[in-house]
Parts: sequence; structure tokens; C-alpha cells
Amino acid sequence: MRVVRIGGADADTDPREAFEEAAELLRAGRLVAFPTETVYGLGAHALDERAVQRIYEAKGRPSINPIIVHVADRDAARALSADWTPTADVLARTFWPGPITLVVRKRDVVPDIVTAGRDTVGLRVPSHPVALALIQRAGLPIAAPSANLSTQVSPTTAEHVVRGLGDRVDLVLDGGPTTVGIESTVVDATGAVARVLRPGMISLEDIAALTGAAEAAADDADAAPRSPGLVGRHYAPRARLQLFPPERRWSAVSTARDERAQERRVGAMVFSTLGLDFVTEHVMPSDPGAYARSLYATLHALDEAGCDLVLVERPPSRPEWTAIIDRLERGGATP
Ligand code: TXA
Ligand code: MG
Repeated sequence: MRVVRIGGADADTDPREAFEEAAELLRAGRLVAFPTETVYGLGAHALDERAVQRIYEAKGRPSINPIIVHVADRDAARALSADWTPTADVLARTFWPGPITLVVRKRDVVPDIVTAGRDTVGLRVPSHPVALALIQRAGLPIAAPSANLSTQVSPTTAEHVVRGLGDRVDLVLDGGPTTVGIESTVVDATGAVARVLRPGMISLEDIAALTGAAEAAADDADAAPRSPGLVGRHYAPRARLQLFPPERRWSAVSTARDERAQERRVGAMVFSTLGLDFVTEHVMPSDPGAYARSLYATLHALDEAGCDLVLVERPPSRPEWTAIIDRLERGGATP
């Protein structure tokens, strides 16, 4: 595995060389991790079954979970879609390039392995310049899930990718920390009403304001009803997450003391300090965009610090926090 820094004063090489090397690897069916504005993706040639198979193997991903295909622009998306609906078109025109994935009927060129046998495909035009340059250089649609082992916290830096995947990936393009910080909004755009399958920083309300109506449906494969024995947690740190509402800080403080008494390491993600010196505490931003940007790096850091329990002050129940609360809950947070 090789890491190449792109951009910034400490860039490793001429970026054109790095993109050429990455494009060459993708064409040869190898795996390249790259930054998007949301999280780092683990990319492969989307139309090459063997290459996509490698993604599932590298992540230990269940083969029932479909992979998002990243394309350069709306025309490239339409080329993979058997039914480009008005819903898809208005969302694409408004939000692409950007952190929204549109699920539409697929054309036959998209291999079944990408869509886990479904007749729909998730398509996205990312806005990160490194992602766009890579797609253009490779001249390919790039299938890319988040570049982490299945069920673990998504990577927002190249270091996270290296720590999680190591030699399972051939090349990592390091474009610095990502700016959105949590995964794209996934929207079923096959019908007249947009259905949000996975919330993201483009909210249901943003979508409804545009299309007139939109509905929530926890129907993406990550959130599919769980059978016993199937992996239960997603986006999960090693530590157990416990949410507490702001008015119950006193109870969080007493939980922290109890845990410490039992020699467990306690972390906290709060909006103002709990004032306990034995707690590995992260005071989180009160702005949702800034919170999302630092969320996964904070979870990675709390795991590094060896926390057993992380007390999380519950963010406000407002639309702009929906996706963040969703990720905390998928990370195992319980009230
Ligand atoms: O921001 C993102 O979406 C990142 C970056 C790399 O683009 N990618 C990402 O991929 O989060 P992944 O594989 O970790 O999550 C993809 C989500 C899953 O919940 C999957 O079930 C859903 O999108 N998905 C993909 N294709 C779908 C389809 N055809 N129908 C329903 N859900 C789909
Ligand atoms: Mg993922």
C-alpha cells in the first residue's frame, strides 16, 4: 500500500503523476482509496466485476449491501440509468456535485455485484476536486463504499484509511481531512416522491423544499431489518456510546464516576465541559456542519484513547441534526 499526498505545500509528487498512477491501477482492477467531500471512498472500476469483488473482500462487506457508483457529471449518471426520472433530474441539477446519492433503475452495463442484485443503482457526483480529477483521469465510473472495514467508523482522513485497511488497498490518495464529514444522503429517486433512505447533511427538508414532497424511509441495506446473527451495529466505534439529554448532565456525571470506580475508561462528547478530569472529553461544536466534520475523527480518537464508554450529549432534535443523530444511533448510542 502506498500513500500519496495531493495538494498543499507538502505534496509528494506532481499531482498529474499521482492521478495517472491511480487511474492505471483502477483500469487494472486494483483498489484506490480517495477523498470525497463526505468520507474517504475505497474505489474500484465499477464495470469490472472482479475489481468490485475485491472491494467486498477488502472490507469484509456482506454481499447484500450495494455500492455507490461515482461519476463525473449528470450525463455520465444518465448513461448508467435505465430510467432517469424528473425527481432524479431536479435533485442532480440542484445538489451535484455534492453529498447526495440518487438511487435509480440501472442499465445492464452495471454489474449485479455493484447493486447486490437489485435493479437499481446508487449514483453520485462528488464535489471533492481529488475525487473528480480521479474519475476524469480514469475515464471510468468508480464504485466506492466508505474506505473502512465493514461496520467500523468511516474514515475522514488518509490516516484513518491506512489504520483500518492497511495493505488491503493498493494506493491511498491523501487529500487532507474531508469537509462534510459524514456519508451522503441516499435518496430513492425512482418515483415521483423522493424517499430518503439514509439521512445526510442535505436534509429531507432541503429536498422537500425543492421537490414539494419527500419522505423518510429507513430502507437502505445498512439499515435493513436485522436477522439474529447478522452484524447489528454500523458506523460503530469500539466504545459503547450512551446518549444523555442536556437536562440530565448530573446523571451523566454520576455514570462517569461509577464507570471510573469500576476501572473503565470514560470519554465524552459534550457541548460544554462536564468538569471531570478523568474523562477523555471532546467539547463538540454547536454548529451542525462543524459537528459533522469532526464527528468521525472524534470517535476514532476516543477509540485510540481506549475508552470503554462514551457519554454523548444529545444534539437538538432539529432537521439539521437528523443525520448526526442517525449516525450516533447507528454507532450503537442508546438513550
Ligand atoms: O458519502 C458517501 O456516500 C460515501 C462516499 C465514499 O461516497 N460512500 C458510502 O458508501 O457511504 P457506503 O457503501 O458505505 O454506503 C452506501 C449506502 C449503503 O447504505 C447502501 O445500502 C446504500 O448506500 N445504497 C447503495 N446503492 C443502493 C441501492 N441501489 N438501493 C438502496 N440503497 C443503496
Ligand atoms: Mg460505509
